[in-house]
Amino acid sequence: MPTEHVNAPARLPRHLAVIMDGNGRWAERRRRPRAVGHRAGARAVNVCIDFCLERGIEALTLFAFSSENWGRPEDEVGALMKLFLNALEREVDELDRRGVRVRFIGERERFGELIRRQMDAAEARTRGNDRLHLSIAASYGGRWDIAQAARSLAQDVAAGRLQPEQIDEAALNARLCLSDLPAPDLFIRTGGDMRISNFLLWQLAYAELWFTDLLWPELDAVTLQRALDDYASRERRFGLTGAQVASRPHETAE
Ligand code: FPP
Repeated sequence: MPTEHVNAPARLPRHLAVIMDGNGRWAERRRRPRAVGHRAGARAVNVCIDFCLERGIEALTLFAFSSENWGRPEDEVGALMKLFLNALEREVDELDRRGVRVRFIGERERFGELIRRQMDAAEARTRGNDRLHLSIAASYGGRWDIAQAARSLAQDVAAGRLQPEQIDEAALNARLCLSDLPAPDLFIRTGGDMRISNFLLWQLAYAELWFTDLLWPELDAVTLQRALDDYASRERRFGLTGAQVASRPHETAE
């Protein structure tokens, strides 16, 4: 599948990648436990999914829990695990009905057995859907992703299935999470911080970046539309010149 589109005609991102930041601050401002902010954050996830379905965005990847988030206080990690379990139980039927394919990317082994089983079941249940590819990054880190791809290449070299000279960008890309999807076109981060925080480090190479001070639980369709409008006004050059892009309007750059 092509990974990047130079000046794609529709000006609609095919793949949206989101860092959902600000749940904790949203709760703290209300003098409530941080877990309350995460619950409000789960409602905003639905706002985002609805928006993508309505606009015809093909893929949505959400950063739900980073490799580093395991280091948070035990009660917050516990509350998040409970929330993930509840959300999986509650939402999968509806997601399936709406044609959403769900997958999880990250170190699944670090989760408890129950959550792992629910993740497997949600993926199996929605495997045949293709209206929206929803990827939930959980126990995910961009460095982990690149390291596991490198390990997989090294294993193939050690087993004689691959020559070192055959290792190129395409070979590494093929072993990364989400390699079957177009690379994210638009990256959105709520919560005011302007960084990528070990999200899809490789896959975001040419994504357009968009930040808002709004906290994740405050997310609404107006804000998402603002991000889309901004995206539509940008010229994506993928390392080419503006003149080159203008003369090859609908070409695909790998
Ligand atoms: C970052 O906010 C958010 C998280 C670490 C968790 C994200 C989880 C959800 C939105 C809930 C449910 C998700 C799914 C997929 C059901 P933060 O806690 O770092 O906020 P802060 O920066 O204000 O402290």
